[in-house]
Amino acid sequence: MAKYSILVLNGPNLGRLGERQPEIYGSRGMDDVPALVRQVLGAADDDVEMVMDQHNSEGALIDRLEQARDQGVDGVVINAGAYTHTSLALGDCLAWIGIPAVEVHLSNVLARSEQRHTSRIAGSCLGVISGFGLESYALGVLALYRHLESKK
Ligand code: DQA
Repeated sequence: MAKYSILVLNGPNLGRLGERQPEIYGSRGMDDVPALVRQVLGAADDDVEMVMDQHNSEGALIDRLEQARDQGVDGVVINAGAYTHTSLALGDCLAWIGIPAVEVHLSNVLARSEQRHTSRIAGSCLGVISGFGLESYALGVLALYRHLESKK
């Protein structure tokens, strides 16, 4: 059994990666993430069991995070899409479930329009990785892995 279970959770409009505005979000899909994670984790990849999920609605994302708590998931990498900038409810959820989380974005949100400069979830996360395309997810898993190892 792997040492850590990590949930990679995507929010709205991230179910069609590869098709959606490839000039902003790239032409690859989430299927490419496990290989990127293997590259950054190296031998430690065996220590991590990664589950990926995606929901378009705010409530479904909250339900999934609560389920992750019940399942004893060790860490969450979350790209909440536009809910990042609007959802106090998601921020509240991450604040209480007690699972270390890393916020990630494909694009560099701070280089985009001002409405994307605010995060309502970052304050409940360990940190934010933004702007590295699909690599952002792999870097998020790496950051979580190192965090979990430091708490052992
Ligand atoms: C995004 C950035 C958000 O501002 C946007 O609403 C998304 C994708 C990203 O990964 O770059 O849906 O989270």
